[in-house]
Amino acid sequence: MNGLLERYRNLYPVTEHTPGLSLGEGGTPLVSLSRLGERLGVSLYAKYDGLNPTGSFKDRGMVLAVAKAVEEGAIGIICASTGNTSASAAAYAARLGIPCHVLLPEGKVAMGKLAQAMVYGANVVAVRGNFDRALEMAREAAKRKGLAIVNSVNRYRLWGQRSGAWEVCDELGSGPDWCVLPVGNAGNITAWWSGFVQYRRLGLAAGVPRMLGVQAEGASPLVTRKPCPEPETVATAIRIGNPVNGPRARWAVRMTGGQFVSVSDEEILAAQKQLASLEGVFAEPASCAPLAGLLRMKRKELLPEGLSVVMVLTGNGLKDPDAVLGNLPAPVTVDASWSSLEEVLS
Ligand code: F0G
Repeated sequence: MNGLLERYRNLYPVTEHTPGLSLGEGGTPLVSLSRLGERLGVSLYAKYDGLNPTGSFKDRGMVLAVAKAVEEGAIGIICASTGNTSASAAAYAARLGIPCHVLLPEGKVAMGKLAQAMVYGANVVAVRGNFDRALEMAREAAKRKGLAIVNSVNRYRLWGQRSGAWEVCDELGSGPDWCVLPVGNAGNITAWWSGFVQYRRLGLAAGVPRMLGVQAEGASPLVTRKPCPEPETVATAIRIGNPVNGPRARWAVRMTGGQFVSVSDEEILAAQKQLASLEGVFAEPASCAPLAGLLRMKRKELLPEGLSVVMVLTGNGLKDPDAVLGNLPAPVTVDASWSSLEEVLS
């Protein structure tokens, strides 16, 4: 199996002592979204990172973080998570046979993600508090117990996640005009920006795209410019009030002439429905914030025509079926006869 550590041996800090580790992560499809692109007046692409082995972009960074943790002699790993980080950490830890502890905000993690962390065998702890508090606790536990922390405070995580940008540049021949990401703890937008910058330095891409970060209105500290003590949104993956990578993400956005915008939960769910029903692509709510952001900018006439735009679809829709099922009518039920079936086949 050819994963990212192998493929980017020369761009990652992989040494002869780094353990081989792969679940076949990376190499996700860049899907052209022509119907939505036409509505927006841009060439629109989705980097479908929900098709990574554990269903989210976290695998790009986790494979490197877990391999380096073991190389550096860690006895185990720990993270706080809104769900996807925990699923990814648990999977890669299982593969190398090391203990994994995950701290989750109680009651606020999508079912699919919780199931993953548990089945991969992590020690799953629900914290009575939000993600920000759980992260503080995980950092302290890491220090006290000598565990490697694999949140995006771990530099290998962000380094690993640069590969998303590299793959886009390789496929398009250069960076797009705009790159749009959902923002929670603000690591991924920072990692993608670093990836584009590195590729430009290496002469592998002509420029660095304008970085647009999209937050949910109820958890938008980078838009309001102040921490949000009680973040709340249907997009639980980005239900974060005090992003640790906030300053670096601000820098990335400022350097590229980009911006942070926020969208409502209603806009996120409407975008999720459109993406699925018009393009056949199912992404979890947080991953649909970028589309909601672009649609809002279009309505406000802030989206220039003719750009090439890449949205990063960070997580798979199957992670959080509850988010869509509550807003859709139940299936029609019929008797098992042709006459009753015929009635509903209009
Ligand atoms: N999209 C999804 C699906 C996520 O799971 C996350 C973060 C983000 C976007 C935001 O990325 O934090 O780098 O700005 N999830 C983390 C977790 C916090 O614990 O799974 P970010």
